[in-house]
Amino acid sequence: MKKIITVIGARPQIIKAAALSRAFETHWKGEVEEILVHTGQHYDDKLSAVFFDEMNIPRPKYQLEVGSGMHGAQTAKMMIDLEEVILKEKPDAVVVYGDTNSTLAAALVASKLHIPLVHIEAGLRSFNKSMPEEINRILCDHCSTLLFSPTENGIKNLEREGFDTSAEGPYNADHPLPVHCGDVMLDNSLYFAQKASESKQLPDAISGDFALATVHRPYNTDDPKRLEAVMKSLLAIQPKHGMQVVLPLHPRTKHLLEKHLPELYTVMKTSSAMVLCEPLGYLDMILLESKAKLVVSDSGGVQKEAYFFKTPCIVLRSETEWTELIESGAARLSFDLSTLDENITALLQHPPSQWPAFYGDGNAAEFIAQKMMEVL
Ligand code: UD1
Ligand code: UDP
Repeated sequence: MKKIITVIGARPQIIKAAALSRAFETHWKGEVEEILVHTGQHYDDKLSAVFFDEMNIPRPKYQLEVGSGMHGAQTAKMMIDLEEVILKEKPDAVVVYGDTNSTLAAALVASKLHIPLVHIEAGLRSFNKSMPEEINRILCDHCSTLLFSPTENGIKNLEREGFDTSAEGPYNADHPLPVHCGDVMLDNSLYFAQKASESKQLPDAISGDFALATVHRPYNTDDPKRLEAVMKSLLAIQPKHGMQVVLPLHPRTKHLLEKHLPELYTVMKTSSAMVLCEPLGYLDMILLESKAKLVVSDSGGVQKEAYFFKTPCIVLRSETEWTELIESGAARLSFDLSTLDENITALLQHPPSQWPAFYGDGNAAEFIAQKMMEVL
């Protein structure tokens, strides 16, 4: 019996973990014990508990309850607790997802305890080190033994950094294996799409075509002037393009609107151009992504899910690690808000005619689990 510790903490990691847990449960029951450890980076029910229920994710054995804080303190607290858990459980491997502070904390602890680290969503690069995620993902990749990259571009990035995709085992942190596997987020979108369309409905406040928006990156939220400009641009979409904007508000963004821009926040809550709501559950979210005419987002996961559902996407960033979305014409970068209108018009008038399978076939988690069982 193999023992795996999976470390999660932020919303997208909880969602991604659902796919691998499902694969272990379906195909390797009795052969692998997966212990979930939740750092507590996200703790509001709407950012955490809701997903365990609706995506049938096993309950974490350990809740570290680290909470919010400055990056250094938050990561350090996670490391102290994770070290204890890993020393106690002595797993055969530690699995981490993506690029959050929870990912980095687990990567550092596992590698210093010489436990093989498995990084799911390896190889992605924005080439912008002012993003905390860019630092987290680079450091995590370079501590890993198995690196599962969702995209061809991710594999190319790893090769440029010296990783060898033809490396032969046995593998360790000095002799790692990068593998192209497809995207576990596609697995989940395909798996849950029917359930979402059967069990969920669009909010009553939506009355026609709509765009779905999410905003939570520090560079869009932390400077009040920028936050104001972003929110005013979202409010202007309805008069200019005839679509209401549905905005499930990340708590980071909500707190900053309340603190710095209370008047604008009141306008957002009362304007018929916007449907403002709490963070949504996964099923509600993918239903909206599939029914929206347009997605506008700075989220990594949401821009890809828009692609899975063939919904054009404005990326409110100056670069993205999901470069194939831009190259294919399915998404456009619009960090410069003066380009927003022309980009929306271009996407709506000329949506891509093809949506190539950049992210695999929906079986990435099975592939990852199989490889882990073979190699570890
Ligand atoms: C984090 C990740 C980011 C990821 C995002 C997913 C890092 C550095 N950032 O960003 O990569 O895209 O999660 O959503 O790891 N808060 C609450 N309730 C919660 C959690 C947070 O109110 O349950 C508020 C707190 O005010 C907190 C702020 O949101 O200070 C930011 O939370 P944090 O986890 O530090 O960063 P995110 O912006 O959520
Ligand atoms: N998501 C959700 N409810 C929301 C907003 C996002 O369920 O209100 C899901 C979304 O469908 C995707 C994931 O959260 O699966 C993306 O996470 P997020 O945008 O928080 O982080 P990122 O992907 O940018 O790291």
